[in-house]
Amino acid sequence: MRTVLFLSIGLTAVCASGQVTFTKDVAPILQERCQVCHRPDTFAPMSLLTYEEARPWAKSIRQKVAAREMPPWYIDKNVGVRHFKNDVSLSDQEIATIVKWVDGGALKGDPKDMPPPRRFDDTDQWHMGQPDLIVQLPKDQIVPAKGADQWIDVLVDAGLTDDRYIRAIEVKTVKGFKVVHHVTTSMKHEDDPDDGDNVQGTFLNEYALGKNADVFPEGAGRLIKAGTKINFNLHLHSVGQETAANVALGLKLYPAGYKPHYDETTEKVGDPKDLDIPANTDNVRFDAYNTLTRPARLLSFQPHMHNRGKASCMEAIYPGGHKVETLSCVSHYQFAWHLVYLYADDEQPLLPAGTVLHLTSWYDNSSTNKFNPDPDNTITYGQRTIDEMGGAWISYYNLTDEEYKQQVQERKSKQALAAQTE
Ligand code: HEC
Repeated sequence: MRTVLFLSIGLTAVCASGQVTFTKDVAPILQERCQVCHRPDTFAPMSLLTYEEARPWAKSIRQKVAAREMPPWYIDKNVGVRHFKNDVSLSDQEIATIVKWVDGGALKGDPKDMPPPRRFDDTDQWHMGQPDLIVQLPKDQIVPAKGADQWIDVLVDAGLTDDRYIRAIEVKTVKGFKVVHHVTTSMKHEDDPDDGDNVQGTFLNEYALGKNADVFPEGAGRLIKAGTKINFNLHLHSVGQETAANVALGLKLYPAGYKPHYDETTEKVGDPKDLDIPANTDNVRFDAYNTLTRPARLLSFQPHMHNRGKASCMEAIYPGGHKVETLSCVSHYQFAWHLVYLYADDEQPLLPAGTVLHLTSWYDNSSTNKFNPDPDNTITYGQRTIDEMGGAWISYYNLTDEEYKQQVQERKSKQALAAQTE
C-alpha cells in the first residue's frame, strides 16, 4: 500500500511540472547512480556529467536502464531476499523518469535547476580510515594502449607473522584508475587443501568503482593466518593510452590475540567438476548441493561463472525437505561484472543445521550469446575463462543452536511489529 502511494505522489510531481528535463529530473539520478563510473578518466566508455555529454547517448541510456543493464546490478529483486546493503540499482520511478525524458525529446530544461557537481574522492583516501596492514602489488601492471581485456593473477605475501582477525577490508586503485575494471582479492595459505582447483584461494573481497569498505559488525571478524599470501585477480581494460596500474588491499585488524565471537567465513558452494555443456545449445542447466552442518546466518551471495554463464539461483532445502525457499537469483549474469550482493541485516537468511543449499547454474553456449567466443565447442569445467565454472561465493557465520533459536525469534517479533504498523 505504501509503495503505491509513494509512486503516485512521485508521478504527480513529474506531471504537475509538465516536462521531464535533464537539469531538474535526470541530472540528480545520473549524479547518484552513474557518474561514479561515467566521468573522465575511468574505464567507462563515456562521461555523463553534463547535458552536452549525455544528450548524444539518450537513446542508448533509455535502452540500458529500461533493460536494467545499467547500472550494473543483476540480482532479481522480486524473488528471495529483496533488500541489500549495497544496492545501486534504479527504482521503477527513476527508470520511468529517464524513459519519459528521452521519449519527450531529451530536453535540457532550465540551467538554474542543475544541481551542483558531485565530488569524488576515491583515489586519495581509505573510506574505512587508515588500515593496519596494506598489501600492494610489488610492480605496476602495464596496460597497453589497445588490446583485449585481460584477467591476471598476482600473488603477494601479506607479511603477517601471527594469526589475526580482520574487522574491515578495502581494496582500491592507487595508480591507473582508468584501466582497472575490477579487482578480486583472495587469501592463499600453505595449509589450504591442494586439490588443484583452489588456484585463487579463498575469496576475500572485491573492488569496483564506487565501492567502499566491507566493515564487519562489532564482534565479527575473518581469520587471516600468519604466512597468508594475497591473490589479486585484476580485470584490466585498455583505454587508448599505455597506462601503468597498481592496486592495494587495506585491512583493519582486531588486536593481536583477540578472537571475535562470530567467525565470518567466505566459501564457495556448488562448482561441480563434471560440467558438460554441449556445443550450440542454450539453457544448459547444472545443479549442485551443499549441506550446512551447523546453523548459519547468511550474509552475501556472489555467483561465479564465465562467458557462457546466464543465470544462477540458490535455494535452501530445510531439514526434512518439506520446506524449500528461494534465497537469490541472478537472472542476468554478466561475467564482466563480479558483483557481491550483501544481504540487508533484517533479511540475512537464518538457516538451521542440516539445511541443503541448492545452487542451479544456467549456460548459453549458442551463438545468440554475444560473449560466447566459440559456440561450436563442448565446454567443460576449468579455471580459464574459455572453460566454465558454476559456483557461488557465500559469506556466513555459524551460530550455536541457542543463538539460532534466539535470532529466529527476534526476526519473528520484528516482522510482527512491522506488520502491525503497515
Ligand atoms: C560501476 C560502473 C558503472 C555504473 C555505476 C554505470 N555504468 Fe554504464 N557502463 C559502464 C561500463 C564499464 C560500460 C561499458 C560496457 C560494460 O562494461 O558493461 C557501460 C556502458 C553503458 C552504456 C552503453 C554505452 C555504449 O557504448 O553503448 C550506457 C548507455 C550506460 N552505460 C549508461 C549508464 C547509466 C545511465 C548509468 C546510471 C543509471 C550507468 N551507466 C551506470 C560502467 C558503469
